[in-house]
Amino acid sequence: MPVIGSPVRPIVKWAGGKTRLLGEILARMPARIGTYAEPFAGGAAVFFALASESASGRPTARRFERAVLADRNLDLVALYRATRDSVGDLIEALRGFRYDRDLFYEVRGQDPSAMSDVSRGARLLFLNRTCYNGLWRVNSKGIFNVPFGRYKNPKILDEKALRSAALLLAQTEVVHGDFSEVTGKLGSGDFVYLDPPYAPASSTSDFTAYAREGFGPDDQQRLATELIRLRKKRVLALLSNADTPETRALYAGLSQDRVRVARSINSDPASRGEVSELLVSNWAPTTPRKRRSAGA
Ligand SMILES: C[S@@+](CC[C@H](N)C(=O)[O-])C[C@H]1O[C@@H](n2cnc3c(N)ncnc32)[C@H](O)[C@@H]1O
Repeated sequence: MPVIGSPVRPIVKWAGGKTRLLGEILARMPARIGTYAEPFAGGAAVFFALASESASGRPTARRFERAVLADRNLDLVALYRATRDSVGDLIEALRGFRYDRDLFYEVRGQDPSAMSDVSRGARLLFLNRTCYNGLWRVNSKGIFNVPFGRYKNPKILDEKALRSAALLLAQTEVVHGDFSEVTGKLGSGDFVYLDPPYAPASSTSDFTAYAREGFGPDDQQRLATELIRLRKKRVLALLSNADTPETRALYAGLSQDRVRVARSINSDPASRGEVSELLVSNWAPTTPRKRRSAGA
């Protein structure tokens, strides 16, 4: 693994991005991991931080042997595959875009289903950098529907960031599918970080429109059941979710910590403050300082 230096940041802006929770999450991870899995990848902030830590050149810093990312959103999966396999072509494709309202709506109107990973990934990056609030949201048919955003001079192509991400993705499996396709293959010594679309914290703060299928209460229940199954298989699992009475009840019996985190992506600027989130683990992680339990 080449020496990279400072932590690599996500290449997309994504609702629910975990950059602000990185310290809390990394501190709970074990020092040695067989397969590191992130099946709700999104911007994959945790993967990029962990992988660049492993690439720092210090042999003792390497935590995982293999990594697998997955997501239900095929545009995002195409972007990671294109970055991993054809970063030069992706960069060239991005040179063809400019910040322009008409071009934005033309590209937004294209059907990405028959596109190559490179064209599809470039389209996502262009729309992500120029849409309102940098939010990726799809309708019930899975079609991206965020309007054009006003920026001074948005950076559509960040070549350095893409090349750094490509190095870290080089040995990484990228799966399109449900989280269970990844968690079902993990075994003893593996570690999974689960960051699902959050259960609604209130009737007005509910965002699950990352992919056509959404993520409803049955999915939240399915995931909670999976955490218990993983514990029986000795797979360590750490999960983040909204801190609500429902999520605390869903994960009753598992180790829970409340953490405060600043939120930035929200269509309503009034609700961009700090929120309480829940970190749930299916083992008892050692954390650097004593924390108040969320009362499992
Ligand atoms: C909260 S976001 C993850 C954010 C990510 N941790 C980051 O740093 O940006 C949740 C992600 O899960 C994906 N997703 C939704 N339902 C899924 C499912 N059933 N299986 C796998 N991924 C799913 C969404 O497309 C979205 O990208």
